[in-house]
Amino acid sequence: MDKFIIEGGRPLKGTIRISGSKNAALPILMSSLLTREKCVISNVPELRDIRTTHQLLKYLGKKCDFSRNVSVILPDRKLRTDTPYDLVKQMRASVLAVGPLLARFHRVRVSLPGGCAIGVRPIDIHIEAFKKLGARIYYRQGDVIMTAARLKGARIRFKFPSVGATENLMMCAVLVPGTTVLENCAMEPEIPDLAQGLKGMGAVIKGEGTRTIKICGVRSLRGIMHNVIPDRIETGTYMIACAAAGGEILLKGTAPGRLKSLVRALRNAGARIRTGENQIFVKSAGRPSPVGVVTGPYPGFPTDLQGPWMSLMCIARGKSRICEKIFENRFIHVPELARMGAHIAVSGNTAVVEGVRQLSGAPVMASDIRAGAALVAAALAAKGRSEIRRVYHIDRGYEKIEGKLKSVGANIKRVRRDVV
Ligand code: EPZ
Repeated sequence: MDKFIIEGGRPLKGTIRISGSKNAALPILMSSLLTREKCVISNVPELRDIRTTHQLLKYLGKKCDFSRNVSVILPDRKLRTDTPYDLVKQMRASVLAVGPLLARFHRVRVSLPGGCAIGVRPIDIHIEAFKKLGARIYYRQGDVIMTAARLKGARIRFKFPSVGATENLMMCAVLVPGTTVLENCAMEPEIPDLAQGLKGMGAVIKGEGTRTIKICGVRSLRGIMHNVIPDRIETGTYMIACAAAGGEILLKGTAPGRLKSLVRALRNAGARIRTGENQIFVKSAGRPSPVGVVTGPYPGFPTDLQGPWMSLMCIARGKSRICEKIFENRFIHVPELARMGAHIAVSGNTAVVEGVRQLSGAPVMASDIRAGAALVAAALAAKGRSEIRRVYHIDRGYEKIEGKLKSVGANIKRVRRDVV
């Protein structure tokens, strides 16, 4: 397993170009299952989760060609309607194949993803909604099987604005006869991006980006050419890393309007931020002021930035409170940050962080994508050498992270497993 060696305490300076959004690319790639025509999707980041998605699409019967951030997906053979456990356990987003497959073939078998490091993460909201469209549900050997003699548009209210359930149901309802109204939908920017892709295929959708989405099913969909939106979480991670390590960076090819809650929090912490149409300039103002955050569905503070934010608060001039309201176990970075000298007390879903003057480098371990990103931000700010193990988690979500950080002056090196 690769590891990162980071010599911290060096301010960042320069420009970073932001990649396409992983979480927007995943459902768009899955929506190629809705058509027999060619789909060309650009600005797709080169990441492990994207490779896993291509593997899944190939298993299901598509031909995928991926190079220079462009994914070309063509039909290869008759599509299968089962998703194997080996792929689902590598990447939970594999469940997003269910919506398109159920819509087209009225039958799908998917392995239940099981829990993961950040929480139990059931898919009950997806399943209940598919039932409302007419699916019958069976459970066999760890798989859920959905079948439907016929599917019909329905009014569905999600008990929680789940991002994945909103996407899965959108991708199903576009081919379901009649009108489907989805209520209490997620409003994350990845949802309007998916809607735009689906509309490009000929789908009829209204209200994406609000809590209520209305979809009128059509008989078939054509291929697409779609350019994925910039990654707001990657953008936010580098903004926080700069505030923590010191210095000033310009993030290009991003969308500042999708990061309002973070921009507000960073300004309150003292950082200087200037936003342009598709760029953000961040300048650290030294040790940050303590600023508490509560994570929430968009436009709230993103759970995916809670870990990096905590790293920043570890060196604040006082005490801050961080409350995690999306996942039940998303403080896995806390013991690792403590190894670097952070003072954090966790009680339930709240962490109280008592800022220290400086963190010190240490050997630590990444246990999920964003916990890994939190450790990178902390290591950049810390004095001395850190060794971050299990970098494969970070590689699931950050394209060329060490190259991008090196280009702004960070002292970061990847040590390959075979060299260790
Ligand atoms: C998406 O996950 C993202 N993943 C996550 O990004 C992100 O953290 C999350 O949304 C929240 O913003 C992708 O887009 C691929 P949810 P998703 O369904 O869709 C509970 C990252 O690091 N829930 O909105 O799985 C669930 O357990 C990741 O890039 C149910 O109880 O998130 C969680 O507590 C990780 N039943 C909450 O809702 C369900 O059927 C939010 O989950 C579905 C969800």
